[in-house]
Order: sequence, then C-alpha cells, then structure tokens
Amino acid sequence: MDGPLDYPRRPLGRLAVAHGDILKMTFPIMKSEMAQRVKPASISRLMRIALENPGVVSLAAGFVDQASLPAELVGRAVEELLSDPIDGPRALQYGTTIGDARLRERLVGLMERGDGRRGGDYACAISRTVVTTGSAQLIYLVCEALLDPGDIVLVESPTYFVFLGPVESRGARAIGVPIDGGGLRPDALEETLAALERSGELERVKMIYTIPEHANPTGITLAPERRPALLEIARKWSRTGRILILEDAAYRGLSFGCAEAPTIYSHDAGGDWVIHARTFSKTLSPGLKLGYGVVPRDLVEPILGLKANHDFGTSNFTQLLINRILAGGGYDQHVDDLRTIYARKRDRFLAALDEFVGPLDPEIQWTIPEGGLFVWMTLPAGLDAGFDGPLFGRCVQEGVIYVPGEFAFADEPGPRPRNHLRLTFGLPGETDLVEGARRLGLALCGCLDPVA
Ligand SMILES: Cc1ncc(COP(=O)(O)O)c(C=O)c1O
Repeated sequence: MDGPLDYPRRPLGRLAVAHGDILKMTFPIMKSEMAQRVKPASISRLMRIALENPGVVSLAAGFVDQASLPAELVGRAVEELLSDPIDGPRALQYGTTIGDARLRERLVGLMERGDGRRGGDYACAISRTVVTTGSAQLIYLVCEALLDPGDIVLVESPTYFVFLGPVESRGARAIGVPIDGGGLRPDALEETLAALERSGELERVKMIYTIPEHANPTGITLAPERRPALLEIARKWSRTGRILILEDAAYRGLSFGCAEAPTIYSHDAGGDWVIHARTFSKTLSPGLKLGYGVVPRDLVEPILGLKANHDFGTSNFTQLLINRILAGGGYDQHVDDLRTIYARKRDRFLAALDEFVGPLDPEIQWTIPEGGLFVWMTLPAGLDAGFDGPLFGRCVQEGVIYVPGEFAFADEPGPRPRNHLRLTFGLPGETDLVEGARRLGLALCGCLDPVA
C-alpha cells in the first residue's frame, strides 16, 4: 500500500500553496521565433485614428472606391450560380488546393489577352496557376517556400510596405534598390548585386520583388524596356540557384487611357524565372479576396503543400462566382468604368494638390500616376512626416491622415528617409479628396512656417 498511502502523508499545506502560486504566476507565452519577429502593423494606428475621428479624411487607407463596388453585378452572379443545379452545389463544396480548373484556364486566357497574345500562347501556364485567397496569400506562400533566415530579397525603394512583413517574419533581409520615374533602375539593381557578390552574399539573394504597374506606394510604372532587362539581370546574376522575379501585378488593368506594356512574365518564355501575382481586389472587389499566381513548375508542389497547411484551397464559392462574372462579360465593362472613375478622382486630387500644396514650397513634389490608386509626395529633406514628427500631428488636428512613407523603405541600406507621404485617391469621394488636399496644405503650411 506504499504508493497510495504516500499521498496524504505529503505536506498538504505546502502543496496547496505551491499550486496556488502556480495559478497566480503568469508565465510568458513561448512564442515561435517567427512570431517574435513580427512587428505590430503600422496600419492599425491609422485605422484607430480614422475610427476615433469620424470627420477625418483618410488619404491613407488603401481601400477601393466604395460607390463603384459592383453589388448588382455580383448579386446577379450569386443568384445564377446558386440556381445552377450542377455549379450551385459545387460552389458550396470543398474544391482542390490548386483551384478550379475552368477558372484557371480563364485566368490564363485573361493574361494572354492583356499581353496581346493569341489564345493558347500561355497554355502551359494553366497547370502552374495557383488560385489563392487574395494575392497577399500567394505572396506569403512564395516567401514561405523560398526564404530562410538570412536570405535576401531585393525590393524597390520604396516598396509595398505589407510585403516587408512576410520577408522579415521569415528572418530574411529586404534590401532596397533605387527607382526613378521609370521604376526599378536596372543599373542600380546590378550595382546592388555586384556589391553583394563582393561581400560574399550573392548566393543568399532569392528574389527580386517589383510592382510594375502604378506601384504601391509611388504610382510609378516600370518602363517597357526595363521588363526584359530585369529578367536578363536575374538570369545573369544567378549562380548556384535561380534568382526569381516576383512580379506583383496588383494594379494591372487600372491604367487610365494608356496601353499597358506586356508583363515581365511575357518575356519569360519557359516560365522559369517569373512568379506572376494577380488579384481581383482592385478591379472587382477586395471583399471577395481572390488572387492567383503563375509560378515556375518546380515551385508548384511546394506552394501547394504550404497552401494545404493554410486552408486546403481558396473558397470554392468565390472561385465559381468570379468565373461566372468573367464569363458573363460584365467584368470588362466594370473595369472600364473603374478606369473612368479613378482617372477623374486622380485629376481632381492632383488639381487640389496643385492648388493647396503647390504654392507652399517648390521642394514639395509628387508623382503623377497614370493609373492605380496612389500618389507619392516628397517633402523638403528635413521635414519629418513620421507618426511622431510635426506634420502627422498637425494633419490629425486638421482632419486628414496619410501613410508615413518611411514604412515603405526596407531597413537596408538605410537610413529610412522620413520625408515622404503615401497618399491615395482610392477611397475618398471627389469632395473629400479636395478637402483632404486643402487640410494637408494647411498642416504643411504650419510645419513649413519658420515661426510656427
Ligand atoms: C501591391 C499590392 N500587392 C498585393 C496586394 C494584396 O491584395 P489582395 O491580397 O487583396 O489581393 C495589395 C493590396 O493592397 C497591393 O497593393
């Protein structure tokens, strides 16, 4: 009877105290290294300010135009889809991890059309097309599949700040490469690669990330002749493994009145070097959250394996719905309408910036986007546009917010400039855009005035 009798003989009081202490103690959660690397999202501060100040004009939120969201078009397609005896139940069932076969075929057809190719030219891309939950998921999966701690991604400087999150959480390094009015500079890219070769780090470079059309955050488009040039550079500097190009074409289709240059993907005949990422968030609805990517053949399986860990597959309902919308012809008309709407909003916004900000200081400059949703403003070098700088606080007082440009720069080569603003004409209506520019002008005026 040794064992059981031992229990009551234990100093019960001490046991109880120890147990109580344990209950009172707060042990730290043992977060993964990846979770520890995640930085708090800068954007949540902006959202809080917008929510706490209902009158504020947000030139910050990367949302799309609210009034043009196609509720009717989507509503009709939902009805048709659910009343279809075959597709209705299919839409409500699980699908495959790679995505619906008919949709993938249609997406590749869209790419062919966009690149001015004949139907069937990109046929071999169909089996390499993965449908994802927004292009954000595709981008995340690419980072998961390619990046280990210490690996390097070359990014435009400035770049889409959300992309820096998955890179940094993998423990990888993002290094900024200068851009100009024609986008990523091939000469600067080569210089960066040469410097990495000299420091013995070239083999850590896994990918080059670019947003060729109306980039977030600058609104700048990659010049047509630079597209094949980037591909050549990636090939030339690949030594022990491929340096891939991640072509994030989120704003393709939203060009105002100008023809779009063929994608970088169109120059990659075998599809071995370019990961082409797309989304319907900007041209249809971010609420539907459907994206896709065409990836090199040997990346398909790793991406699908990782995607299965996430969700087994993207919402089948959304996929079949978008396939129906694309088939019905309403999509093309909708994108046409969007181009007109955004071009008008861009014009109103730029005219208001000319009126309210232009006269303040000739050193204040901004980009003139030919599509997309963003304007990038540069202030005199000493003027800090960060959250804790003088301008942001004044802007909140005046009732306007923007994204501080510093978030869009990679840590390297550093230091991150603080005299830029990302402004968007996507969400606010035309009246608010004009008012937002006026308030921004007032806030800037207060910061530029030496006696203020
Ligand atoms: C450049 C860029 N890439 C990707 C995305 C992600 O879009 P989504 O995940 O909604 O497809 C965005 C969204 O703002 C973006 O601006």
